[in-house]
Amino acid sequence: MHSAFYLFGALLLTGADARCVKISASTTSTALPSSSSASRSLSSATEPSSTLSSIILSSASSTLSSIASTSSAGASTSTSQSLVSSETSVASSSEASTTTGSQSLVSSETAAPSSSASTAGASTSTSSTSVPTATNYARNYVPDVVDKLRDSSMSNLEEYLKQNPSGKCTLETASIRREWGDLSDAEREDYIAAVQCLQSKPSLFEEGVAPGAKSRFDDFVAVHISMTDDVHFVSQFLSWHRYLLWTYEKALREDCGYTGYQPYWNWDRYAKDPENSPLFNGNSTSLSGNSVRGACVTSGPFKDMKVNLGPGASLRHNPRCLKRDISKSWASQCTADKTNSLITRSTTIASFQDTMQSFNGVHGGGHFTIGGDPGGDLHASNGDPAFYLHHGMIDRIWWIWQMQDLPTRLAAVGGRTSQGRPGSLDEDVDISILGKSVKLGELLNTMGGKGGDFCYIYL
Ligand SMILES: *[C@@H]1O[C@H](CO)[C@@H](O)[C@H](O)[C@H]1NC(C)=O
Repeated sequence: MHSAFYLFGALLLTGADARCVKISASTTSTALPSSSSASRSLSSATEPSSTLSSIILSSASSTLSSIASTSSAGASTSTSQSLVSSETSVASSSEASTTTGSQSLVSSETAAPSSSASTAGASTSTSSTSVPTATNYARNYVPDVVDKLRDSSMSNLEEYLKQNPSGKCTLETASIRREWGDLSDAEREDYIAAVQCLQSKPSLFEEGVAPGAKSRFDDFVAVHISMTDDVHFVSQFLSWHRYLLWTYEKALREDCGYTGYQPYWNWDRYAKDPENSPLFNGNSTSLSGNSVRGACVTSGPFKDMKVNLGPGASLRHNPRCLKRDISKSWASQCTADKTNSLITRSTTIASFQDTMQSFNGVHGGGHFTIGGDPGGDLHASNGDPAFYLHHGMIDRIWWIWQMQDLPTRLAAVGGRTSQGRPGSLDEDVDISILGKSVKLGELLNTMGGKGGDFCYIYL
């Protein structure tokens, strides 16, 4: 709670700073190569920040009722895009009262007798000679309603690929992104080691462009910070983050020898007790633990990492420790029932992405379950390594949403660009120095998108 409050204050204080960064980015035109963000108008650029302030404020008063009341206050202050649809508020109030589906929340791995058997199955399948495929990985947890929807939707994908083959990308060759709790300890260690490797490699930014970016890991943070206003609450929110995540996975593999794939975080699995989850319990195969009363994280692999960038839109070097503010009440906003209704009730991409990003939506819900600094900061949030597992789940549920009607939804774009134009398949999705600018329409299909570079599914 301390750190959430601290960040809220910091955001207000850095409001002016943020403008300076924008201005200097446009005067030194090389600041962000090939980024369109530099030319954005300042007035529209500040809107998402004030939206964030509302979210962070509600994080400080962490009860369900305060979230609900803040969200209605937020709804009236939000300007151009309607972020809280009526569908969302109705759905979320009923979901908040149904709290937990008994079978969908398994809070302890050891609770289910079958889990040890499937753990063994999972680890033998990875070490045996036969390569695991889309169907033969085991889960360590009882499948929730979204997992079941994923499983039953795979036949749609198979059928679609029969009609529309994606070159050499098939279900046999696709990489499989798995849930953190389904990885073996050795697999978690490999992922953690690769992230630490990225944190030890020199930044690719030219000197002075992003002074706070001290590593390859930081490069991703600097790009997220500098493009925050262009890629949230806009038409390319989902595709930009998909592209960033894929590029991050590629860096882990190509620059740091990681042989696995990007894991994700199924929020619902740990929603009752995120602090004691395999992600955040602070042991050596977690992503480090929680902060105690706003202090630095003191346990797990990232306890000594330096957070170099932020808070807010600042790109200057500001080394500090990692802090978290792990929140059960935000986690309770991310149940499988709610995610399932997001997927099944959103009939357009616009409603899907708006509902997800609404004040009590699962996008903010996951971010503020992590909370702290930089996890609770819209700009610098990917300075916490847990960001990528959260956005893995965001990408996964988009993918599951797409599988409900592939012919339509692999060409679906909604909302507006940061310049206020209607989103289109033709708009450029730019990740600055991290990769080439790509058309939005190229990023919609995980099975063959980006000129065949994308070839992955989720378990
Ligand atoms: C860390 O905790 C998780 C969750 O309980 C467990 O699966 C994992 O085996 C633990 N790792 C170590 C090294 O003890």
